[in-house]
Amino acid sequence: MDRIVISGGSPLYGSIDIDGMKNAALPVIFATVLVGDRCEIHNLPSVSDIKGAIEIIRELGAVVEKIDEHTVVIDTTDMKVSPANSEIAKKMRASYYLLGAELGRFGKAFVSFPGGCDFGVRPIDQHIKGFLRLGAKVEIENGNIIAEAPDGLTAGNVFFDIVSVGATVNTILAAVLADGQTIIENAAREPHIVDLSNFLNMCGADIKGAGTDTIRIRGVESLHGCNYTIIPDMIEAGTYMVAVSAACGDVTLCNIIPKHMESVTAKLEEMGVTVIENDDSIRIIRTPDQKLNPCNIKTMPYPGFPTDMQPQFGALLCYANGAGRINEAVWENRFKYIDELKRMGADITVNGRIATVNGFGSLKAASVRACDLRGGAAMVIAALAAEGITSIEDVHLIERGYDNIVGKLIGLGAQIKKVVIESPEPF
Ligand code: UD1
Repeated sequence: MDRIVISGGSPLYGSIDIDGMKNAALPVIFATVLVGDRCEIHNLPSVSDIKGAIEIIRELGAVVEKIDEHTVVIDTTDMKVSPANSEIAKKMRASYYLLGAELGRFGKAFVSFPGGCDFGVRPIDQHIKGFLRLGAKVEIENGNIIAEAPDGLTAGNVFFDIVSVGATVNTILAAVLADGQTIIENAAREPHIVDLSNFLNMCGADIKGAGTDTIRIRGVESLHGCNYTIIPDMIEAGTYMVAVSAACGDVTLCNIIPKHMESVTAKLEEMGVTVIENDDSIRIIRTPDQKLNPCNIKTMPYPGFPTDMQPQFGALLCYANGAGRINEAVWENRFKYIDELKRMGADITVNGRIATVNGFGSLKAASVRACDLRGGAAMVIAALAAEGITSIEDVHLIERGYDNIVGKLIGLGAQIKKVVIESPEPF
């Protein structure tokens, strides 16, 4: 029954370090299975999804040594292919990266249907398309996905019908050791696709074009281990940018890649927030007398506005003066958090994939819950700027993707704590 309790209204000041990117670290961890050697991975975020991924591969025979909170050595030399721990795998979307990694290395993979946030139907047809184009057979039985290529995979051309991060990752993983050149068209261009490709290329793979919509992978005979540092988390950074914009203050976010933040920065500037970019940091300033303008957003694959920042902006738009429109074009049902914002007095109407937020500059504290990872972050943002004490339940969902969110916000002057009791304690 862990909760986060926030007494809203304190502006945020100071600086924080942004951790490594969860959605880049997950494919890299599963890619170590493909490498079959010793890899040292740095800048891992200390969040439950990463711990779960490490646990899954450890149970499959990987030897994992924790060097410090953000560094592990993973040795997959003696791993054998066997069914993944279904209980952990079922909770985590990224567990399906085992399919591409095991198929690429062993010619066989067996994984239960993946979990993760509930945004409506989450098909995996494009992942399967990638595997089939490389010569695998894929069956779905009793909630498990079984992929096999007894004679090894052979390169092929894959044209995705939609842009999918997961399908791009899985097809890269399957193609790295396949015989010949694979060309992926309409590939996802997210920074985590580039990070995975950089990691695999350091291990001896031959991947070109990551970060564009055409990726060429020339199969290699074998891979070797390497030392690799995960890129900073653009969604964690974006979340704190929005938190400062809602609560007011002056905060510098360190260890980021400002280029990755462009779509978020552009929207915050449109709303009247001051954003100052430096080489590897960003400073966000909003003075308490500065009003926020509403804005319209439409989620899109990178470099468009990220769907993983949509709920945080939903919360921020409540503090603007006027109506802003959100078009959620990636997921069919990513507005569950709006019912929680309404408990805090938000005026939002949802019509299909469009939400209209009638901002009037304030929200009131309430007892709310985190519906999912980013929906939970939206509630933290709403609470930081609200009048009164807000209590947020289901904190474990927030902890899937935010390393020490409470500690970081305390460091910036927020009145926030994590409690395990039924009712919030007064500050
Ligand atoms: C990843 C992220 C998630 C983010 C999403 C979009 C991880 C662990 N998760 O999820 O946080 O919200 O990218 O940026 O990195 N689709 C199909 N068929 C498929 C695969 C996807 O129709 O085979 C559809 C999905 O239903 C969705 C869209 O494609 O509408 C994008 O999904 P995708 O990019 O695959 O998301 P994930 O990789 O699951």
